Amino acid sequence: MRKKITVVGAGNVGASCAQRLAERGYADVVLVDIVPSVPQGKALDIQEAAPVVGIDSLVTGVNSYEASADSDVVVITAGVPRKPGMSRDDLVTTNQNIVASITRDVLKHSPDCIIVAVTNPLDAMAHVILKESGFPRCRVVGMSGILDTARFRTFIALEFGVSVEDVQALVLGGHGDQMVPLPRIASVGGIPLPQLLPQETIDRLVQRAVKGGGEIVELLNTSAYYAPSAAAVQMVDAIALDKKRILPAAAYLEGEYGIEGVFLGVPVKLGAGGVEQIMQVELSPDEQEALKRSAAAVRELVEVTRKG
Ligand code: APR
Repeated sequence: MRKKITVVGAGNVGASCAQRLAERGYADVVLVDIVPSVPQGKALDIQEAAPVVGIDSLVTGVNSYEASADSDVVVITAGVPRKPGMSRDDLVTTNQNIVASITRDVLKHSPDCIIVAVTNPLDAMAHVILKESGFPRCRVVGMSGILDTARFRTFIALEFGVSVEDVQALVLGGHGDQMVPLPRIASVGGIPLPQLLPQETIDRLVQRAVKGGGEIVELLNTSAYYAPSAAAVQMVDAIALDKKRILPAAAYLEGEYGIEGVFLGVPVKLGAGGVEQIMQVELSPDEQEALKRSAAAVRELVEVTRKG
């Protein structure tokens, strides 16, 4: 039997996720949105590509949650995106109400699912979903680190003119301006980045990665969706296919890295159980300090959601 994946939000990120998932062929996909006929239209369009792509997945677009019943994984992308000049944090109050009500609907129909949060501000929205659902922390995970890391890897690969496949990197922390790239352990073909590039070049690449989302917002007048959907779907693959991949993602920390009670980007083992393990990276004192600052920024936003 094929898996069932529900994507909530049929906008730029959600529709791209649905397309990427459907084209993998291992799951039926349900696309949910509040806007009448849009999820239906996008789902039908994706479905009509099936004979060309060569997959048998069913893609259903709906405005309610019955068809999503018993989903294995639910990806929540619904909410408003950024406009130029906005930070991810500016979205908090609007998006918290949206994700809280969606979580209640998801829960009614798929009480055993694993939720992948994508809506921004990501770490605070994952927190809202965790508290609203009452799920154990392993079943709510946020998409952030794969995207931030992919941006960093892209810029390193472009700088060297080498395959992205040979570039490894890791970005920790919240999915915002306080994210914590770790160039110290980035590598090209196994060679540590600090042995290959002067510090000022590394700093430039780090800055571009940190501001990578904003760079797209300035160009598009809305936020990115091709890379975010690719990242979210890599997480769904790991969970639905029980791949047990080690990927950076937002997990709820309960003492790991000396941090308690917030979602933060860390390397996790993702499999059928969701976040099956949180991996610990040994950090330098500066990196640990930066991670603590990032956690404090997430905590402030979580406080805003409590007042909202
Ligand atoms: N239930 C279902 N869908 C909703 C709801 C709701 N309560 N509220 C809003 N939506 C839908 C909108 O109708 C819209 O189709 O969410 C969709 C959002 O799509 P876009 O506006 O295109 O935004 P997108 O670029 O997909 O970004 C969505 O992901 O990366 C983050 O920062 C981004 O928070 C934003 C989210």
